[in-house]
Amino acid sequence: MKETLYLECISLTKSFFIDNKIQPVLTSLTYSFKQGVSYALMGASGSGKSTLMHLLAGIDTPTSGIISMNDFSCESIVLVFQSPYLIKELSVLENIVLAGTLHGKNKKESTEQALFLLDSVELQHTAHWDVGALSGGQKQRVALARALINKPRFLLADEVTGNLDTHTGNAIISLLLTFQKKWNMGLLISTHNPLVAEKMEIMLILKDGKLIHNEKMINQTQERTREYGIR
Ligand SMILES: Nc1ncnc2c1ncn2[C@@H]1O[C@H](COP(=O)(O)OP(=O)(O)OP(=O)(O)O)[C@@H](O)[C@H]1O
Ligand SMILES: [Mg+2]
Repeated sequence: MKETLYLECISLTKSFFIDNKIQPVLTSLTYSFKQGVSYALMGASGSGKSTLMHLLAGIDTPTSGIISMNDFSCESIVLVFQSPYLIKELSVLENIVLAGTLHGKNKKESTEQALFLLDSVELQHTAHWDVGALSGGQKQRVALARALINKPRFLLADEVTGNLDTHTGNAIISLLLTFQKKWNMGLLISTHNPLVAEKMEIMLILKDGKLIHNEKMINQTQERTREYGIR
């Protein structure tokens, strides 16, 4: 059996030059994400959720501290951005197929898997469309299908349900959780929606540059949602 993977942040600090001063967004953050576990990442707008995900995915570098994993390989960690970046010169299907062929799958295998994933996100009918013809939420679902084609060990999904209606959002979350279990993937979803967060096994809140577990808060938020209809 393969060793369980851990994606670890050790004393991670990230500062940005904001408003003419250097301001810390993440401060000495230490946390270990485990393969096969689902995490919700919550926190106020501007608290640093996207920043943390960019660091974990290796597309930005920390000011100090370390990101480490016990077995790195190129397709281990995949990030789905808050705004989906699709290649506009390619069709919907080609966008997903390309991600597979870039990682060494042959075109036939990649196309079969891309069609299966497009079907999973209920967009098979758009396979040959230009990506420009998709709505924001549809683009987000294509970006998810593209992220899944190489069976990542960790999937980082940055507010992927933010642009989706409740029904589609729920369907996408169930789909992600299905693949998460099937492939023993680590799943980290940032969200402002407590109803999405409660579906994950572990809930984390980013506050003052650090991550805190707060299962109690999620219950309180749900009570408020029930009581006052606040979302
Ligand atoms: N490239 C950058 N240059 C300067 N400041 C940045 C940069 N990226 C992020 N920031 C700042 O870092 C802080 C955290 O931003 P981040 O996008 O990580 O927040 P977030 O928690 O993802 O917010 P949201 O919920 O709105 O998506 C913000 O103050 C933002 O302005
Ligand atoms: Mg963000």
